[in-house]
Amino acid sequence: MKKSIYILFASATLLSGTAFAVDDLALAKEKQCLSCHSVEKDKFGPSFQHIALKYKDRKDAEAVLEKQILNGSGRDHWGTKMPPAGDPGAARTRPDVTKTEAKQLVAWVLSQK
Ligand code: HEC
Repeated sequence: MKKSIYILFASATLLSGTAFAVDDLALAKEKQCLSCHSVEKDKFGPSFQHIALKYKDRKDAEAVLEKQILNGSGRDHWGTKMPPAGDPGAARTRPDVTKTEAKQLVAWVLSQK
């Protein structure tokens, strides 16, 4: 009995793991992240691979990037500013992002090394 519960649990984790990978890209598209960023090439914003490399050793990476996805960059350190999410007054507007969505996007961005 105990064993079958473990198997169930393991396969559920595996399944949701696969679904997650697809959802991440869909979410990034829905939130228009890819209109300024690409995974591999710097565009208006830095590539997600560059971001993942820059933050790979930082313990506060999740917190810092989550905040930036919600509020924009405020100051620029890659050369241009990222506008805040869901602010109609921003020079370049982008869709609103919830905290949960921001967390998911950060995990995805940081996995792009
Ligand atoms: C309107 C263009 C634009 C959109 C849309 C946009 N970004 Fe950005 N993003 C930028 C720019 C420009 C920078 C560089 C900012 C800087 O120099 O501080 C940036 C930086 C970042 C960084 C790196 C922050 C750092 O501290 O190094 C992350 C992570 C990021 N964006 C994620 C996202 C995600 C996820 C989305 C979608 C929800 C998104 N961006 C949508 C323009 C954009």
